[in-house]
Amino acid sequence: MIDLYHILYSLSKSVDIIHKNFENHSKQVAYLSLYLAEAINYNIDKNELFKAALVHDVGAIFLRSANINGIFEEKPEDLKSHEQFGHNLLKNFEFFKKTAEIVLYHHTDFKNNNTNNLYSQLINLADRICAIFSLNTKKVVDIPNTKIKINNYLKDNRDGKFNPHMIEAFYDSIYGKNEVWINLLDVVNLKYKKLSSLFDLKPLNVSLDEGMFLFSFFGEVINSHSSFTLYHSERVFKVSNLLCNELGFSNEEAQPIQIASYLHDLGKLVVPIEVLDKRGYLSNEEHDLIKIHPLITEKVLSEIENFQDIVVYASYHHEFLDGSGYPYGKRDYEIPLGARIVTIADMVASFLEHRPYRYALSIEETKTNLQNLAHYNKLDKDLVNYLFKNPYIFEEIIQIDQQRMTI
Ligand SMILES: [Fe+2]
Ligand SMILES: [Fe+2]
Ligand SMILES: [Fe+2]
Repeated sequence: MIDLYHILYSLSKSVDIIHKNFENHSKQVAYLSLYLAEAINYNIDKNELFKAALVHDVGAIFLRSANINGIFEEKPEDLKSHEQFGHNLLKNFEFFKKTAEIVLYHHTDFKNNNTNNLYSQLINLADRICAIFSLNTKKVVDIPNTKIKINNYLKDNRDGKFNPHMIEAFYDSIYGKNEVWINLLDVVNLKYKKLSSLFDLKPLNVSLDEGMFLFSFFGEVINSHSSFTLYHSERVFKVSNLLCNELGFSNEEAQPIQIASYLHDLGKLVVPIEVLDKRGYLSNEEHDLIKIHPLITEKVLSEIENFQDIVVYASYHHEFLDGSGYPYGKRDYEIPLGARIVTIADMVASFLEHRPYRYALSIEETKTNLQNLAHYNKLDKDLVNYLFKNPYIFEEIIQIDQQRMTI
């Protein structure tokens, strides 16, 4: 069993790694908006608020760095576009139905917010306070000056930007409480267990099968960061599944591989879109940055309880059996079967997709490449053979985007 809220809390890091200004933004906004909700004493479903706060900025993964700066500088077009992108991503998932609505209005001024969505209003205020806070506070000693900046900002924006009851509650119950500011500064060490008991959040315990949609959601978040990888994690998932079936894996054996397939490229979220989508040759520095991505995947996933196997399967997806891969240069016996499966699945999907520096390869070229890689002991020969027993898989992989477009 997994608690979906716990997983969401850990994976909210995906949004926070896309830009230096975000740092721990999602967790900070979750903490502060819950605090505000307690202070105003309205009828608020705290789990619903928590969920929305953790993914409120997910739409920023579609934005270039300059436009992410625009969110912090409150440029109207950047505020609007990430609200809309986030909404579009979330609305396809039943679990995020209400969240999608909340996210759509999380920067809408109180006076213009016809929906009167209290959740959006809470996140709007918490978001602005957290943005000023994290831009100005690196150490405890910065807190008093930051509070003055927040105070000035709220004074300048008295006219209808925020819900006045929420502003009042902020000054009555939060502004003078040092523990809140210290917790915001140290939010990275605020464990889910502590947070959920602080605000009396209810767990949502489900089986891995029932929770798989949440990993597929984050797969889609990762895909959406570059226009070249729109269906990538879905394709990797499909090839991995085929190999798991061929190997006669049980559901329990296949699940960690499926999750790793969805999340393997999570670390690519640290690479700005302008680098990922750059046409032509990358500079050495840009290349270096891209090669870091499996390590970031490893770092983020390591924070999730009982994810040890998944961490290895996901973060070894660029390792080769002959030791020539990255980031660690692991070889043969050091690379477990689950990781070998994800690696092959990733290669198949990548070959068949366009990249900024080349067109998609044909099925024939893909097969030749796979055979060569197996021949030179980079990929597992047996797994490549299993794949070749299913000649239709290549067409099916190519067709994934067409299927989606017709839904
Ligand atoms: Fe936002
Ligand atoms: Fe935000
Ligand atoms: Fe990768």
